[in-house]
Amino acid sequence: MKTKGVLSTLQTKNYPIYFDEHFSFLKKWLSGSKHSKYFILADDNTINHCFPILANSHPKLKSAHIIAINPGEASKDLSIAQQIWTVLTENEADKKALLINLGGGVVSDLGGFCAALYKRGIDFVNIPTTLLAMADASVGGKTGIDFLNYKNHIGTIQEPKALFIHPAFLHTLPVRHLKNGMAEIIKIACLQDKALWQNLVNHDTIDLKYIIYKSIELKHAIVKKDLKDEGIRQSLNFGHTVGHAIEGALMGTKKEVLHGEAIAAGMIVESIIAVEKKLLDETTLNELIVLLFQLYPKINLNKLETNKVLDHIKQDKKNTKDKINLALACKGFKFKTNVAVSIAEIKNVLAVYEAI
Ligand SMILES: NC(=O)c1ccc[n+]([C@@H]2O[C@H](COP(=O)([O-])OP(=O)(O)OC[C@H]3O[C@@H](n4cnc5c(N)ncnc54)[C@H](O)[C@@H]3O)[C@@H](O)[C@H]2O)c1
Ligand SMILES: [Zn+2]
Repeated sequence: MKTKGVLSTLQTKNYPIYFDEHFSFLKKWLSGSKHSKYFILADDNTINHCFPILANSHPKLKSAHIIAINPGEASKDLSIAQQIWTVLTENEADKKALLINLGGGVVSDLGGFCAALYKRGIDFVNIPTTLLAMADASVGGKTGIDFLNYKNHIGTIQEPKALFIHPAFLHTLPVRHLKNGMAEIIKIACLQDKALWQNLVNHDTIDLKYIIYKSIELKHAIVKKDLKDEGIRQSLNFGHTVGHAIEGALMGTKKEVLHGEAIAAGMIVESIIAVEKKLLDETTLNELIVLLFQLYPKINLNKLETNKVLDHIKQDKKNTKDKINLALACKGFKFKTNVAVSIAEIKNVLAVYEAI
């Protein structure tokens, strides 16, 4: 597959997305920006691997105040948000300050959340450094933190002022995290793009720049119709009802899994349900299972963990009354949202997944 067809800029309704291989867009954007102060939110790994590459591209970055957090999901926490607001306050960040989120989905979710609420909202931009963040998390404006181990339980929707994608950052990303990012790309292909799906299933040559671009383009097309997540955007929750529950249930334990790994398991479980409901064909389900098991190990859950997963599912944001509402990928690269299932049905299919 060629990178042909990938544009350098994708203009969304409210902000530009730049494919910025040489930071030329970032330089221009920063030169024109009139922010009073510049803050960079980064974790220890992105400070080591990414900040040195970025810093020389503009004097405003060299003199920016760096806010460092620990790497990992545990940083998506209210206590860390409080620390960030404290640093902003102590360094006199006013309404015209800019927060630059340099990192993976943890940094962009947390940084976007902090920026959205600080003084009722300051500007922020995302400079994603993981595949997951480039292809998915930094687009669409969902920001938030985890609460009581429930994923993204507290959050808001606030879009960045701009997004700068520099694929070369991926050179230092550990393989497990590179694979982690593939799950969301597989998800969006399965929901709506046959050509991308076939490319992933046949995986002759994977052109990262192309799949990042395609994934953003597809996600953006949905987000622009439904920023607030009240309709069509819920399709992007495919794999996430069960996936988030697995991720939350194992969070902080020795068996903690990454977001993409949990979503991969969630996509398999939810697609088995889709086949049972005759919404999805077995061929696609089998392709999905093969593809995902090539990338991720199976998540084995004991009885206690299974019950915890089911408890988490009951807290899912999409539930109405006693119904669990799933978003499912359907035959022919289509999808269906609000497919009601019971907890008992999910419990049975979790056992089917365990037995694969
Ligand atoms: N807002 C959204 O729409 C959305 C969508 C999908 C996922 N998410 C969220 O994103 C989060 C996961 O994001 P993630 O997978 O990017 O995780 P992450 O931010 O924790 O990054 C993964 C790891 O890679 C390290 N790292 C990052 N860039 C690096 C680089 N270039 N070189 C070396 N190391 C690097 C980080 O320090 C971290 O240890 C989850 O919290 C998930 O809920 C949000
Ligand atoms: Zn996700």
